[in-house]
Amino acid sequence: MNGNHQKFAEGLLQYLNDSPTAYHAVENAAALLRENGFQELNETESWSLQKNGRYFVVKNSSAVIAFTVGEGDLGKEGFRIIGAHTDSPALKIKPGPCTVTPDGYVKVNVEVYGGAILQTWFDRPLAVAGRVIVKENGALREKLIQIDKPVFMIPNLCIHFHRDMNEKSSCNRQTEILPLLSMKEEGLEKEDYLPALLQEETGIDKGELVDYELFLYEYQKGIFTGKKQEFISAPRIDDLSMVYAGLIALMEAETGECCQVLAAFDNEEVGSTTAQGANSGLLLHILNRICKNLGLSDEGYFQAVANSTSISADLAHAVHPNYSDKHDTENRPVLGGGPVIKYSASQRYATTAWSAAYFADACESAGVPYQKFVNRNDVVGGSTIGPALSGLTTIPTVDIGAPILAMHSIREFGAVADMEYTGAAFLAYYEGGRP
Ligand code: CO
Repeated sequence: MNGNHQKFAEGLLQYLNDSPTAYHAVENAAALLRENGFQELNETESWSLQKNGRYFVVKNSSAVIAFTVGEGDLGKEGFRIIGAHTDSPALKIKPGPCTVTPDGYVKVNVEVYGGAILQTWFDRPLAVAGRVIVKENGALREKLIQIDKPVFMIPNLCIHFHRDMNEKSSCNRQTEILPLLSMKEEGLEKEDYLPALLQEETGIDKGELVDYELFLYEYQKGIFTGKKQEFISAPRIDDLSMVYAGLIALMEAETGECCQVLAAFDNEEVGSTTAQGANSGLLLHILNRICKNLGLSDEGYFQAVANSTSISADLAHAVHPNYSDKHDTENRPVLGGGPVIKYSASQRYATTAWSAAYFADACESAGVPYQKFVNRNDVVGGSTIGPALSGLTTIPTVDIGAPILAMHSIREFGAVADMEYTGAAFLAYYEGGRP
């Protein structure tokens, strides 16, 4: 691993390990932005933006839009946008959080958030984090919490009761994935276990607890692996690695003529149609507000949008060493080969020849290799924030991402080099001239 890759990767691994939920990813991003001279703006207050100013806005504690105002005429220079997402597949605790079986087991009642590979959640110590709403002295307040301890486990059924398990693996999402918390305790009703845990571990008074959004996460941290430690095995690489690469690029970029924007949305894994998701007015409102605040007319705003470009940064599928026929015969990205431009004729990725070309240009000027991906015709594949981002804003968008394996596993797997390559391409994109 070379020195640049190493330094970038260590920062990334720290960010992944410190950000078990979208709320924590945004809190940690905001801390980095503040340290680097970005000023927080509140949507509810009036703004007074300056040229060369660095700002960010947090939405719902789970999405963040950060931007640097350029020196040029915004109408002519437009926005250069990188979009990514803060959420990852997980198990989310339901209301009515616990159930006690007749045999005396206390289980946590969870639902599946996003397209998780459920088998990977078995036999792993699980911790819990998220946000709670409390009522303190008559006022509602939000608190982020993290109980970074191995408190839950979903034990597998032994192979002796399920002899064909290796041939036929499936699990029922209602009955087979409920994590075990403890054995039944005298004096506790089923509704008491979660508030009692929160009170013991975080000091939140159970009488003040109003509601919560809590997600289980893998207690074990991400690590580097491989003969030369050239790989990264960690939770939430999709898509926090792209959030991190975008953040670092935005913080390092020289202020140019255009307005550089990083939009880290929530809820991509469940379709993006939420107030803090990409399929909403969130980014458009902020772009509009930036223009109006800098004195542009409606005409200037529409001109700025028409002069803008964007990147939808999510991860890509590397060719798998054990399943090499899952890829198209001619488009075969590999680990370590650089960021991947993702194409789809049905526009499940927003890439066009034009948007691919400006991203390829950024890679070339950064001296970074890049690769191309398109699904086999008999594989449906996934989607990203790209179609929503380009459809709502009408800004050309390229779908790209570092190649990884095991996407949506509790631990995903990528190459350290690709993470830093992608960051370098982002920096060149922000600093480059208008395509
Ligand atoms: Co993703």
